[in-house]
Amino acid sequence: MAKNSSTQVFAQLRAYESRNVTFMEADGSWPIVWARARGVNVWDSEGRKHLDLTAAFGVAAAGHANPRVVRAGQRQMATLLHAMGDVHPHSLKAVLAKELSALTFERWSSEQAKGKRRKTKGPAFTGKTIFCNSGFEAVEAALKTAALATGKRGVIAFEGAYHGLGYGALNVTHRAHFRSPFRAQLREFGHFLPFPDAVGRGVLTAPSASGRLRRAEDSAPYPLRELRTRLEKLLRRGDVGAILVEPVQARGGLQVPPPEFLPHLREMCDAHGALLILDEIYTGFGRTGKWFACEHSGVVPDVICLGKALTGGFPLSACVGRAEVMDAAWPVSTGEAIHTSTFLGHPVGCAMALAQIAELQRLKLVERTARLGAWLGGELAKVHGPKSKVQSRVRGVGLMQGLELVRADGSPATEESLGIIKRLLHRGFIFLPEGEHANVIGFTPPLTITQRDLRRAIAALADELATLP
Ligand SMILES: Cc1ncc(COP(=O)(O)O)c(C=O)c1O
Repeated sequence: MAKNSSTQVFAQLRAYESRNVTFMEADGSWPIVWARARGVNVWDSEGRKHLDLTAAFGVAAAGHANPRVVRAGQRQMATLLHAMGDVHPHSLKAVLAKELSALTFERWSSEQAKGKRRKTKGPAFTGKTIFCNSGFEAVEAALKTAALATGKRGVIAFEGAYHGLGYGALNVTHRAHFRSPFRAQLREFGHFLPFPDAVGRGVLTAPSASGRLRRAEDSAPYPLRELRTRLEKLLRRGDVGAILVEPVQARGGLQVPPPEFLPHLREMCDAHGALLILDEIYTGFGRTGKWFACEHSGVVPDVICLGKALTGGFPLSACVGRAEVMDAAWPVSTGEAIHTSTFLGHPVGCAMALAQIAELQRLKLVERTARLGAWLGGELAKVHGPKSKVQSRVRGVGLMQGLELVRADGSPATEESLGIIKRLLHRGFIFLPEGEHANVIGFTPPLTITQRDLRRAIAALADELATLP
């Protein structure tokens, strides 16, 4: 098949793809056409090499086209390319479900047991999975779980939240940009409360060497009490079955809440019989320096949503719930599952996920991310254009950090941030803007990135910041 130049690709996309999908600048400054990728590098259709600071939306955690993950996928493709989701299963779906239980609820319960010196052998609780394809579908499976388990329709979510764009998930994704065109068709069962952003309020400093978030000495009082009151009020109405939250908001602008936030939510859910659903689609599998971001505060959810880095590059996601909760919610199938899809638990995705998890373990990428993330936070804090009218502030944790650019009057420096990202693209660095105002320049690279490559990227970013008027 003939390879097309980027000009041809753009012309074809303009002619044949729905025009709301790929954003293309008329002057050719955005985007590039990806031709191949390996490790931390991406080559475009003109043969230029780029350092990827995005891991392609956080997916390529063990590196692009990690050879072991690719081999596992290829072997599976040649053996069994497709099975029958909820009818005739394949064996790897069972193996992966068991592995996800071990990584989440079993590991958490044995850690809790260590804390409490529980003497009984084996995990106190296990997890049960519903496999899905995209991240939003895992969120929707979790929402259905809560509705079935509690019989309540309401869900508390947070301002700035991004849980995907399906008609179920849209009810709990906050931004009007995504919701308002379809509002007439939404049931609007989501209630949004402010997400407590600790960094913006000066409550937290950058993570310490251990990867733990530290409380700033001069921390401004954080209105958790106010949030608690609003939560109580909503929960007392009696129609809320779940609180859904990202432990660190990703697309919301790398917002890190104060350490007591998740424990508060856990307490509230326990007191009012609601499920705590954590959306770790972005933060999961080591991105924040722990296997899952909830481990920074020791909170165990009722349900966790996983996707992105789960496979390293195949559309497979998972809604994993505590077995008891899942069993209370979902009846045993009598032949026609009430929630399934054609590609449920795709064999290639399952094979790749098992290889990807093994790679994260073999390369000790979670521990490495904690160390590298602590260093990155310190380096990013040194980056600013001293004479510039644009101020920068470090956000995030682990290898999910970024620089938020704000003008002297406090307004988001959106144009400046987008301009820098475009110029960096043409210097060979792929970055993405995060946040509602696209003014956070995100660093979410493959977890395999070296300090040297990060240093290069930071230096290029610092150069560009220095050129701002
Ligand atoms: C936290 C979070 N949840 C859900 C989603 C939706 O995942 P998907 O785009 O695979 O549907 C995303 C995507 O960015 C995400 O960051």
